[in-house]
Amino acid sequence: MNYRHAYHAGGYTDAVKHAVLALLIERLKEKDAPFCVLDTHAGLGRYDLLSPEAQKTGEFRHGIARLLVAPALPAALAPYLAVVRVMNSGLAAPRWYPGSPRLALDLMRADDRLALVELHPGDAQTLAAAFAGDKRVKVHQSDGYVALKAFLPPPERRGLVLIDPPFEAKDEFARIVRGLGHAHRRWATGQYMVWYPIKHRAPVKAFHAALAASGIPRILVAELLVRYDDDAERLNGCGIVLVNPPWRMAEILSPLFDELLRLFDARIHGRTRVEILVPE
Ligand SMILES: C[S@@+](CC[C@H](N)C(=O)[O-])C[C@H]1O[C@@H](n2cnc3c(N)ncnc32)[C@H](O)[C@@H]1O
Repeated sequence: MNYRHAYHAGGYTDAVKHAVLALLIERLKEKDAPFCVLDTHAGLGRYDLLSPEAQKTGEFRHGIARLLVAPALPAALAPYLAVVRVMNSGLAAPRWYPGSPRLALDLMRADDRLALVELHPGDAQTLAAAFAGDKRVKVHQSDGYVALKAFLPPPERRGLVLIDPPFEAKDEFARIVRGLGHAHRRWATGQYMVWYPIKHRAPVKAFHAALAASGIPRILVAELLVRYDDDAERLNGCGIVLVNPPWRMAEILSPLFDELLRLFDARIHGRTRVEILVPE
């Protein structure tokens, strides 16, 4: 386990992921009934953009830092950016960036519940300390794919599962498809969000084909590429898979991703793609 998210926190791929996550949580809040968020690869919860790791790559400068100073922003970014702004209120320059646990929790209500799974023992400890005393949160030092079997369906029978692995393992796409299959058999009505990196198109194409062949219906795919997807050694963009997406999500994500491409100044070589991979 060498992957450390601190190097990438707040980069453009985090911004894409967290903007969508915030939108999904806002949609869950449209009904009064409590919901559960299961974050299978939770990371640290909060990142310091002044840390040596974040400063070394400077990835946040091309992501969240651009969004925070942009003059005109789409309304769909509001819930995500509101959390980042509150975390940094009173500071001359942004320093703190929310990981998925902090973002989810800041948007959730008093009766909603957050289950965090993180395999790295130190990170799991940091998470547990950060959220100690908040009865809504439970931290598990465990394998996220095991959690997909152990914790589903949640008692609330409403909610969202975020699957955001580090992609260190060569078979991560296959693990995701297997994990989604197990999870969907246990809880077919849950929402699932998977984040994935795009380097070369070939493995992504195989991933989509495996999803389409999995028998899971209602799958939406949304991608943002800042460069051509023809180089297996370089991160060229990222994608999101949504199973059971909320009503009209494609119509919301399509203009949002186009706008993000503009905000990241990547329109020349970049492109976006939002489409239904598997219908009802
Ligand atoms: C991309 S980061 C997560 C970032 C986080 N979801 C966010 O958006 O802020 C992936 C995390 O998964 C953890 N991890 C790696 N393998 C895991 C596994 N099998 N189960 C759970 N966590 C794992 C890593 O330690 C790392 O913190």
